[in-house]
Amino acid sequence: MNIQKHSENVHSICHQWCIERQTIAFVPTMGNLHAGHLKLVEKAQQLADKIVVSIFVNPLQFGENEDYSVYPRTIDEDREKLADHVVDLLFVPEVHDIYPNGPSESTIVEVPTLSGILCGASRPRHFSGVATVVNKFFNIIQPNIAVFGKKDFQQLMIIKRMVNDLNMPLTIVGEETIREQDGLATSSRNAYLTTDERERAPLLFHSLSKAKQRILSGDKQFTDIEDAMKLTLNQQKLTTEYFSIRNATDLIVADVNTKDFVVLAAVYLGSTRLIDNLSFSLK
Ligand code: PAF
Repeated sequence: MNIQKHSENVHSICHQWCIERQTIAFVPTMGNLHAGHLKLVEKAQQLADKIVVSIFVNPLQFGENEDYSVYPRTIDEDREKLADHVVDLLFVPEVHDIYPNGPSESTIVEVPTLSGILCGASRPRHFSGVATVVNKFFNIIQPNIAVFGKKDFQQLMIIKRMVNDLNMPLTIVGEETIREQDGLATSSRNAYLTTDERERAPLLFHSLSKAKQRILSGDKQFTDIEDAMKLTLNQQKLTTEYFSIRNATDLIVADVNTKDFVVLAAVYLGSTRLIDNLSFSLK
């Protein structure tokens, strides 16, 4: 596997592939790879000739009191995991390569409205940090396709909106969430959970599933469903930041006319913040 640290090298390798008419699929990650990331890589392999994966813990998307400094950096293990997959180029830049003037001096990409709701309400600069770094990677790599996990549903929608708004010439693909046997979505942050928290964590998925069942069975009292699920979660000490039933196409609060739904939630178990969602349509 070709591993590169410098964006100039990555740009010239990818540019050469483009001249050779090889298509490129890109999977951006922050490392600490798990089954969910590997599924994104497998999806990318089905869609293009060349696969580029990035590992970069992006300081711009972490708030001041968030886990940037302790976010797990496991590059040796990540390389081993990727060795079983056909990855043509692994890009592992340093912060100064991506932000030559420092993150705080970087030009920012801001996707309005979508970035300020749900996760964006409690993490005000998070999504501009994500949109900015993803935009930079797209400019360096110039992929035909980029693959993102549906677990970060809001992030996926924001990237799609950015690509559409800025006429970026690539296709964004969303891949299904990978879950543990008990339903917990795979996440690098699951590693922060204590044994007791890990046992309670699947309730997040189960409450989303329960909400989905109620909606599919015709219940349109969305606020009641949200309140009931928040109560159940809070009783099990999963402190709910939000539990929200939305329109899956624009993340607007669902109403009686909604056909395509996404139910999204963010909870704290101790100091660990977990997010998850389920999307589905009424027939
Ligand atoms: O989803 C992530 O891991 C990150 O937000 C991303 C897309 C790699 C940008 O840093």
